[in-house]
Amino acid sequence: MEKRLLFAIFHVSFALMLVLVHGQDIPGFISIDCGSLDNYVDEQTGIYYTSDLQYLDVGRGENYSISPQFKTRNLAKQLWNVRSFSRGRKNCYTLRPSQGKNNTYLIRASFMYGNYDANNQFPVFDLYLGGNKWNTVKVKDTDNLITMEIIHVPQSDYIFVCLVNTVSGTPFISTLELRLLNNDSYIVPSGSLELFARLDCGLSPNKLVRYENDVLDRIWMPVNYEEWDVLNTSSAVDPFNVFNPPSLVMSTAVTPQNPDEALLIKWSTDDNSTAEFYITLHLAEIENLQENQTREMNMFVNDRKWYGPFSPEYLRATTLYGTKVDKSFSIRINKTENSPLPPVLNALEIFTVKPMFQPQTDQNDVDAMMNIKSTYELKSKSIYQVERDWQGDPCMPSNYTWDRLNCSFKGFDPPRIISVNLSSSELTGEITPYISNLTMLQILDLSNNNLSGTVPDFLSQMPYLRILNIENNNFSGTLPVGLQAKLNSDSLSLRAGGNLYLCLTNPCKKEDKKKTNNVLIPVVASVCGFLAILLTAGVIFWCLKRRKQDTTASTNVNAESNKKDEQLEPKKQQFSYSEVLTITNNFERIIGKGGFGTVYYGFFDDSQVAVKKLSVSSAQGYKQFHAEAKLLTRVHHRNVTALVGYCDEGPNKGLIYEYMANGDLAWHLSDKNAHPLSWEQRLKIAIDAAQGLEYLHSGCKPPIIHRDVKTTNILLNEKLQAKLSDFGLSRAFPLEGDTHVSTIVVGTPGYLDPEFFTSNWLTEKSDVFSFGVVLLEIITGRPAITKQNGKGHVIEWVKPRLSKGDMTSIVDPRLVDQQDLNKISIWKAVELALACVSPNSAKRPTMTQILIELKECLGMEMA
Ligand SMILES: *[C@@H]1O[C@H](CO)[C@@H](O)[C@H](O)[C@H]1NC(C)=O
Ligand SMILES: *[C@@H]1O[C@H](CO)[C@@H](O)[C@H](O)[C@H]1NC(C)=O
Ligand SMILES: *[C@@H]1O[C@H](CO)[C@@H](O)[C@H](O)[C@H]1NC(C)=O
Ligand SMILES: *[C@@H]1O[C@H](CO)[C@@H](O)[C@H](O)[C@H]1NC(C)=O
Ligand SMILES: *[C@@H]1O[C@H](CO)[C@@H](O)[C@H](O)[C@H]1NC(C)=O
Ligand SMILES: *[C@@H]1O[C@H](CO)[C@@H](O)[C@H](O)[C@H]1NC(C)=O
Ligand SMILES: *[C@@H]1O[C@H](CO)[C@@H](O)[C@H](O)[C@H]1NC(C)=O
Ligand SMILES: *[C@@H]1O[C@H](CO)[C@@H](O)[C@H](O)[C@H]1NC(C)=O
Ligand SMILES: *[C@@H]1O[C@H](CO)[C@@H](O)[C@H](O)[C@H]1NC(C)=O
Ligand SMILES: *[C@@H]1O[C@H](CO)[C@@H](O)[C@H](O)[C@H]1NC(C)=O
Ligand SMILES: *[C@@H]1O[C@H](CO)[C@@H](O)[C@H](O)[C@H]1NC(C)=O
Repeated sequence: MEKRLLFAIFHVSFALMLVLVHGQDIPGFISIDCGSLDNYVDEQTGIYYTSDLQYLDVGRGENYSISPQFKTRNLAKQLWNVRSFSRGRKNCYTLRPSQGKNNTYLIRASFMYGNYDANNQFPVFDLYLGGNKWNTVKVKDTDNLITMEIIHVPQSDYIFVCLVNTVSGTPFISTLELRLLNNDSYIVPSGSLELFARLDCGLSPNKLVRYENDVLDRIWMPVNYEEWDVLNTSSAVDPFNVFNPPSLVMSTAVTPQNPDEALLIKWSTDDNSTAEFYITLHLAEIENLQENQTREMNMFVNDRKWYGPFSPEYLRATTLYGTKVDKSFSIRINKTENSPLPPVLNALEIFTVKPMFQPQTDQNDVDAMMNIKSTYELKSKSIYQVERDWQGDPCMPSNYTWDRLNCSFKGFDPPRIISVNLSSSELTGEITPYISNLTMLQILDLSNNNLSGTVPDFLSQMPYLRILNIENNNFSGTLPVGLQAKLNSDSLSLRAGGNLYLCLTNPCKKEDKKKTNNVLIPVVASVCGFLAILLTAGVIFWCLKRRKQDTTASTNVNAESNKKDEQLEPKKQQFSYSEVLTITNNFERIIGKGGFGTVYYGFFDDSQVAVKKLSVSSAQGYKQFHAEAKLLTRVHHRNVTALVGYCDEGPNKGLIYEYMANGDLAWHLSDKNAHPLSWEQRLKIAIDAAQGLEYLHSGCKPPIIHRDVKTTNILLNEKLQAKLSDFGLSRAFPLEGDTHVSTIVVGTPGYLDPEFFTSNWLTEKSDVFSFGVVLLEIITGRPAITKQNGKGHVIEWVKPRLSKGDMTSIVDPRLVDQQDLNKISIWKAVELALACVSPNSAKRPTMTQILIELKECLGMEMA
């Protein structure tokens, strides 16, 4: 998606105003002149640039100079050299700023082709930040300078900037810069900020402001219009805020020539698709106003009032900022009616919000791999060069995982390394202890190298290691006792032949050698064991009381009801059929139909109840009735419908639930509801339902899979608090060992995990899938499956619209009119829902993660 500013086009010739020579590194700055062999202080900015060699693996890329005709005094020295990467799919710079993760960094990459390769062909390639695509670099001209800038908060101490060859020319880069920003500035919860324009209003044309006028080294471009007047001051403007707009930038401002007109700035996306923009306006009064003078103004974004009335303070910078999703934008600043003076604007920045969906690999794993790589690269160059792409993040993006490595990808969790194959890699020396830091490692192949020394004991401490191959090396001594024990317990498969001096037993016996030659002991995936667990699971069953840190009133209620539960024997919850008749007044009023029977209104013990009468014809019903009754008497959570009691008299079976005055969610989302739920209400309902599911998955032991999560099974009480109902399909399933249950029971079409059809397994992630469908219904107001036209699943309906960035068409039209919605929270919810309905269950988040995300959405909405 290209964006276009409708007004000025800037011809940037790096004509910088400053000649300042600084000594050394500036804290929080990394400044790399790619392709250069020298370190030097840049004459124009005083910034210390270094060669790129220390940020790259040895031997990566080739250094070049651009064609001499472009090396003029006007072109900054750091653009005179480039590094190009003719080999490897992906080549990365590894930045490790000393301030580490979770800080806000500006990262800027510049590309000036300058016909460095004398080919006069313009390459196109991709730029990645860790596992996420940042942008595509399209060189359009020989002397065209392309600068890409992103503001990013890394979740790991490593920042990988990678150039990816897309087979349309050789990737190259001129400079790479990193600047530490204030943690509290330029924050959006949903991603990183890609610079679209950073404008200094009223600055003289052909000038730029950067370090050290801007201590953060942002590059400000001049902007002015014919219909604008310029104000200036020679006094310093106090930046006074976390954005720290430079005094020089703030000391000029523009104002409309006709004081009654507005300052108007417009831009749009090129392809009419919506995008989320982050806008900052920097304002300060730079005229020394008389007491009887006032300047007061209002800001409008797309003709909606954004902020105001506002009077800038004299020589003090104020920054207004916010985000909005749309395809075209106008910012209009006009004076208020009682302001004699026209509006002013000193500077503005416009960013697009770039979602960063791909997590970075677990930092301990990255540290370990980096250390393993550097330990062995001294001795064996083949390990990382040319044929092996050991570049950037080890696991991400998942189609560029390091060669000979396999990772596990689970939803939003950082990927983990689970297998490493260094077979035939000319490794020498001992097995590096850094291997032990790969704590999730399952498979390690070190065969056919020249490794020597003893087999280290730490291998036996690695909890998940199940296949180890150290064949054909020069190991000596005896196998550690711990590894022998693992072999004996069949939890490890070991190949250790071809090591002349290695004994597999202690004490060493001669005949061992023969035996060891091909010891392959299979890992036990004990089918019997699994079945046994399954059988006992039905018997041993209880729910843990959750110990939540935030002890809310409702958790106290839980504790109490649990206590009551212990005192009351199950018998007290059992009702006779005649009692049920009294409660329901002879089944007078039907209030719903559940999976296995009709639900009637009742009155018991001064409170309303819902009585589900099991239909006699329901063949499965009897089994499910017991399952449900057993489960529900043990499940206590404020987001799960409470079972008051049950009736079990021969063919007359019924369940008595608390009454949910507001019926089910499906009705509330449907057209039948004349008072559509607000976005905030919807979010709260989603959170309630997620809490209920999270409790079933994580708070119950063994966990419970609901198996039939859908909008008709989410009930609302008089306060619109949501609770899960209908556990008819739930079964306990084992906690340890395999986390899935084979079953013949199938949930509701439209909500059923597609993996079920191939695997016949239902897991917690199946509930996550169904929950994702529910979330999409909540957002769109559309049912899971639209009956018209036969096909029409809500997932298929949302996806094309989202990929067009067309948010407004996704959201329930009855919501849009209600209020000025927080688009980020909706956007985030859509992303979350789509992650839940990922066809691959491993990519779905857990209910715990979902809950965190939803609460963030709600937080944004309330803020
Ligand atoms: C590239 O680097 C080598 C040293 O590795 C150096 O001798 C050569 O001059 C450099 N080439 C350019 C164009 O800078
Ligand atoms: C990152 O920083 C934010 C605030 O600056 C803090 O709330 C959060 O807990 C931090 N996260 C980590 C992983 O340090
Ligand atoms: C930013 O946040 C990180 C993590 O929360 C903290 O370590 C660091 O000191 C903060 N930096 C600034 C400049 O506030
Ligand atoms: C302010 O503008 C006036 C008139 O355009 C100009 O003469 C003066 O040099 C400017 N002052 C500064 C500090 O830029
Ligand atoms: C964008 O939409 C406008 C009107 O809606 C239309 O005139 C214009 O051609 C569209 N531009 C593109 C690139 O689709
Ligand atoms: C403001 O006051 C000054 C004298 O203090 C006077 O000359 C000027 O006309 C006044 N301006 C307005 C708009 O009242
Ligand atoms: C300012 O602009 C808004 C939106 O265009 C308009 O509604 C309002 O009347 C304007 N106010 C003045 C004082 O010009
Ligand atoms: C990797 O995946 C990305 C995004 O899914 C895609 O654009 C790219 O072409 C893929 N690369 C390869 C080599 O498959
Ligand atoms: C990684 O997984 C692929 C596909 O499952 C498999 O072919 C390959 O052998 C694995 N690699 C390692 C190092 O285990
Ligand atoms: C490791 O790689 C080698 C060569 O590519 C292959 O023969 C071997 O089976 C792999 N080992 C594992 C455990 O996958
Ligand atoms: C990684 O391994 C080294 C050497 O065994 C050890 O000193 C270090 O503490 C480990 N780091 C982590 C994070 O486990």
